[in-house]
Amino acid sequence: MNSFNAEIAKALAATGAFDEEAALKLISVPPDTSHGNYTIPCFSLAKTLRKAPKLIAEDLAAKVQLPAGLSKVEAVNGYLNFFIDRGFLAKSTLNEIAAKGLEYGHAASNGKVVCIDYSSPNIGKELAFHHLRSTMIGNSLARIYKAAGYKVERINHLGDWGTAFGKLIVMYLREKLPTDEATLNALTVKELNILYASFSKASKEEPGLEDEARAAFTKLEQGDEFYRKLWTAFRAATLKELMRIYDMMGVGFDHYTGESFFEDKIPAVLDELREKNLLVNSQERDVVMLDEFDLNPCLIRKSDGSTLYATRDLAAAIYRKKEYNFDKCLYVVDLGQALHFKQVFHVLKKMGREWYKDMYHIPFGVILQMVDGKWEKGKTRTGTASLLRDVIEAAQKKILEFIDEKNPGLENKELIARQIGISALTFNDLKNSRLKDVRFDWDAVMSFEGDTGPYVQNAHVRLCSIMRKAGYTVPVADVDYAQLTDDAAYSLINILAKKGEKILAAVKDDEPSVLAQYALEIAEAAHKFIHEDRVLGSAEEKSRLFLVQSTQIVLENVLDLLGLFPIRQM
Ligand code: ARG
Repeated sequence: MNSFNAEIAKALAATGAFDEEAALKLISVPPDTSHGNYTIPCFSLAKTLRKAPKLIAEDLAAKVQLPAGLSKVEAVNGYLNFFIDRGFLAKSTLNEIAAKGLEYGHAASNGKVVCIDYSSPNIGKELAFHHLRSTMIGNSLARIYKAAGYKVERINHLGDWGTAFGKLIVMYLREKLPTDEATLNALTVKELNILYASFSKASKEEPGLEDEARAAFTKLEQGDEFYRKLWTAFRAATLKELMRIYDMMGVGFDHYTGESFFEDKIPAVLDELREKNLLVNSQERDVVMLDEFDLNPCLIRKSDGSTLYATRDLAAAIYRKKEYNFDKCLYVVDLGQALHFKQVFHVLKKMGREWYKDMYHIPFGVILQMVDGKWEKGKTRTGTASLLRDVIEAAQKKILEFIDEKNPGLENKELIARQIGISALTFNDLKNSRLKDVRFDWDAVMSFEGDTGPYVQNAHVRLCSIMRKAGYTVPVADVDYAQLTDDAAYSLINILAKKGEKILAAVKDDEPSVLAQYALEIAEAAHKFIHEDRVLGSAEEKSRLFLVQSTQIVLENVLDLLGLFPIRQM
């Protein structure tokens, strides 16, 4: 955004009423531009200037010299309102969009590194709902941080170690499943899921089974070759399915460093804890006491010597700091793990790692599904894979109907329908502040009206279709900015100009919803502009088409930052 704050402050200081710094502090941006683009409430000045706010505003309005690019200043009830010149705003904004393209509004590199730990599901199980949310929020945050100038390390901290594998191994061997290479290579997550389920069932009748599983994990930890072979196969089967889902969603990672990766890095952590006298033996387990922070002790080592989730997170945090030297490390993990992260961060503090302050748990609400007319917490067991299958099916049906009616000859319509479906799911997840629970109502999620994915996708498609119909692109030199000053064009341009500040606001609160709401604002203003200002065949065709092109560029990138597929045709 072409920010006029500095110019306005200078002009105000020149009136002699107060200094530049004080003026700068008073300037605010009203949400509704009918009261100007910048406003200065004069109430706090009344005391020092010994005058009524209304008079101060009037006096300043009469004296102040308007900086270039502003068209008007007015005093209204103690407020001093400045208006941007619409032609100036159009020119400066659209020229910059043309010059920067999709990267318009992105910040220059700030030299900072952020680690984002997201998705991080557990091997041997299907992606659970909270992992799906983590995947979508983390993927979007990774894109947004990059646009804000950070170097981003996208990390998948796979749950690929722990007693769960003992359970799988015990069950696999008990059911005498074949262990030849070919069978192991062909294993699926579904089969592993079934093994889990039968373990849970069997262990209810046979309490000894849990011990067997623990013993099996210990054997795995100690490096038993045959057990390692089984574990490798379980891990590979899950990764294969995960990759399929990530590919379909357009999600990626820079590092797949799961819990098992830290196995050989744990002894050093234990040594350090011991050296610093932080390990306390309590009920035969090793813990770090956290009373001084009002937290329960953090469990580090069980009586049989095996380590825990928290121990591996300590090793992972230390590794990340050493390897990437992050300025910030985010954990996009469901709210249920809030205590775990508090404990891990505070153990780091006790270890003297001052950078513990740079670690943030980024929690989010649960997914709710309608069950017998009531909203209920979505059942993880039914699995995200089936949820994704449902979405894609529902999307294909609905979107294909739409396409067959409007654009039957469209190529790749199956793929487009799938992408719109996944984008609809993503948008529904990201549109509200992440701590809110997410409701799944298929009809609402897939609707072309309201605050939905298909609604914003459709705005983008309409812009693309006007450009296709025009058959040419407008160079900057052909634009008459005076033709882009009517209300509909001005509102749209004013919104486009805010892209940079929206990206920074999303980063500040780790909230993709800021950009989701922004996408809705753009879509709405774009629809309005297209509706009110005829583009093709009008006297202002070139200038208006230029605004269409500019809007398309901004919207395409905003969709991309959210992890939505910017569809061009449907
Ligand atoms: N695998 C864990 C779970 O499913 C989430 C891991 C989150 N990341 C981390 N560094 N603890 O609950």
